[in-house]
Amino acid sequence: MSWKKFFNFKKEKTEAELLKAVTARPIPEHIAIIMDGNGRWATARNLPRTAGHRQGVEVLREIIETAVKLKIAHLTLYAFSTENWKRPESEVRALMSLMVEFLQKEIKTLHENNIRINMLGEIQGLPYDAAQEIKKSMELTKNNTGLQVNIAINYGSRAEIIRAVKKIAQDIAQNRLSPDEISEDLFTQYLETKGIPDPDLMIRTGGEFRLSNFLLYQSAYTELLFTDKRLLWPDFSSRKFLKAILEYQNRVRRFGGIDEQEGV
Ligand code: FPP
Repeated sequence: MSWKKFFNFKKEKTEAELLKAVTARPIPEHIAIIMDGNGRWATARNLPRTAGHRQGVEVLREIIETAVKLKIAHLTLYAFSTENWKRPESEVRALMSLMVEFLQKEIKTLHENNIRINMLGEIQGLPYDAAQEIKKSMELTKNNTGLQVNIAINYGSRAEIIRAVKKIAQDIAQNRLSPDEISEDLFTQYLETKGIPDPDLMIRTGGEFRLSNFLLYQSAYTELLFTDKRLLWPDFSSRKFLKAILEYQNRVRRFGGIDEQEGV
C-alpha cells in the first residue's frame, strides 16, 4: 500500500459523503437545537455579541438547507427563551430585529421550498413587528408540507406545562373533560407542540450540558448531543450537523425497554 493510500483512509469525509452515509440510514423525524455560544464567539473576536448572533443566523440558513435535503420533518430552534429578557435591552432588540430580518429576507425562499414556519412560545409580549412578521410567515406557509421549522421565541418549557395544566383545569371545571381522561397522550394535546412528534435528537453547541428549560416534557426519550465548548454555534456547519446525525444513528434507543439483540 502506498503511503498516500495509507494516509487517505484518515481523510475527513466530504459533505457529499456524509450526506450519503446519513441518508442510507433512518433519518430522525425531529431535531431540536439549542444554538449556544454566539456571544462567546463574538467576544473572542473583539466583536459585539450581536455579531455572533448575526453569524448564527447564517449558520441556521445552512442547517435549514441540509434539513430540507435530508427530508427531516421538524426542526425546532431555541431562538429566545423567557429568561433571555434578562439580557441588556440592546441585545434583546438586536435578536428580535435579526429574526424579523431573517423572515423578511428568507420567507420567499422558505415558502418556495415548501417549508412551514411555526412558532412555539408566547406571541403576546413580543415586540409588535416581530409578532406581525411571525404571524405573516405562519399564515403564508401554513399549507406547506415539507420541513416544519418551529421557532421557539419567548418560550419556556415550565411555563408551557403550567399553561397546559391551567387549560386542562378549565376544561374539567366546564365539564368538557373528566380527570379520568387525562393521559400522557391527552396532555401532549395541550402543549404547544401538539401534533409534533417528540424530538429524536437534541443538539446543544457551546459546551453547556443542560436543557435550559427547553422542551422538558417532550424530550423524555430524546437523544442528547452536547458539543465541546470549543464548538460554538457560529462555527457549526452542515458537515457538523451531518456528523451529529451520524452519531445519533449509531446510538441504540431503548425507550426504557431492552435492545432486541440483548434480549435473545
Ligand atoms: C445563545 O448564545 C443564543 C441565543 C440566545 C440566540 C440564538 C438566536 C439566533 C441564532 C438567531 C435566531 C434567529 C432566528 C431567525 C430564529 P449566547 O448569546 O447565549 O452565547 P454565549 O453563551 O456565548 O453568551
